[in-house]
Amino acid sequence: MRFVILGAGRIGLAHVDTLMKLDGVSALFIADLDSARAAAAAATVQGAAFGTIDEAFSWKPDGIVIAAPTSVHAELIVRAVQAGIPTFCEKPLAESLTSTLAVVEEVERHDVPVQIGFQRRFDAGYVEARRSLAAGEFGELRRMHMVTCDPTPPPAEYVPVSGGLYRDCHIHDFDILRWVTGQEVASVFATGSNRGAEYFAASGDIDESATILTLNDGTLVTLQGSRYNGAGYDVRMELAGTRGNRTVGLDERVPLTSTEPGVDFPSGTPWGTFQERFTDAYREELAAFVTVVHGTTPARCTPRDALEALYIAEAASLSRVEGRVVMLAEVRASARVEARI
Ligand SMILES: NC(=O)c1ccc[n+]([C@@H]2O[C@H](COP(=O)([O-])OP(=O)(O)OC[C@H]3O[C@@H](n4cnc5c(N)ncnc54)[C@H](O)[C@@H]3O)[C@@H](O)[C@H]2O)c1
Repeated sequence: MRFVILGAGRIGLAHVDTLMKLDGVSALFIADLDSARAAAAAATVQGAAFGTIDEAFSWKPDGIVIAAPTSVHAELIVRAVQAGIPTFCEKPLAESLTSTLAVVEEVERHDVPVQIGFQRRFDAGYVEARRSLAAGEFGELRRMHMVTCDPTPPPAEYVPVSGGLYRDCHIHDFDILRWVTGQEVASVFATGSNRGAEYFAASGDIDESATILTLNDGTLVTLQGSRYNGAGYDVRMELAGTRGNRTVGLDERVPLTSTEPGVDFPSGTPWGTFQERFTDAYREELAAFVTVVHGTTPARCTPRDALEALYIAEAASLSRVEGRVVMLAEVRASARVEARI
């Protein structure tokens, strides 16, 4: 099958590398607004073509992978589904709640599969957490703790267009929380601080976060985030039940240091980047997309899932700014009112 990749930046280049090694992928066409980037990416793959976005659509691919900036996701997804082409799009689905709602409605008007790039759904640890929880192997879920910490901050130009820490980064936690537990979030209380570069505060963003979420069944969840985690790239999820617990990300490379005498766990080199931590998950999600294009499986993460994760990110952003607990019902209701306007 023939695949187009739109956007040959950080994640796009990784997807080019992954896609070309997958069974079922016979040809690639790479398009980027910056034609030199598209050409350079195509040069890494034998026989890959490159060109403009219009030429990519005219090439009549079987599937499209969108790895362009968030600001153009909405228009590219709509163009792809209107052309009847199965689409994979990086998270988040769109820049705002209003445009996300519009894209979801447009996608659902067409019988064209769309998969959103929440790769944690394809990470072996999260897959096992979901399975063991559903099987009741550690009793009834009562508490969870999640962490997503970057070792170094993103560049200054990325922050103002990122949507902020909750929509850009913690949206991964919100999506995987729903997927692992099968629960919805009822309420959020979020706080954050500015301890790093001034460009975070200048954009109304934060670089450290702490959040409390309550799920519909009463399970309590704490979440921490940082753009300055000197120890390494730290992504974990701890689940505590009435008969035991499970932890995702507790491996030899987790960036933790024990103070206990004689304990040398973890002994590996700490994870340094999201690319290395999730290499296998990125491969699995694109392998799954190939089967979606083939018509063998449905998309594991749909635009509606992306909308649900964004509702939680909106609630967290509002909670932080207004210093109060925000019910998800409030965010859903105001989104519906805005969409009617
Ligand atoms: N799932 C993940 O873990 C993950 C990780 C990083 C980034 N992302 C997401 O991937 C997207 C891209 O992020 P990035 O860090 O690779 O950005 P980037 O800035 O490194 O790359 C974006 C590329 O898209 C090109 N581009 C701009 N407009 C375009 C258009 N209309 N059509 C085609 N190409 C266009 C740019 O020239 C650039 O080469 C963002 O939405 C981001 O949220 C997801």
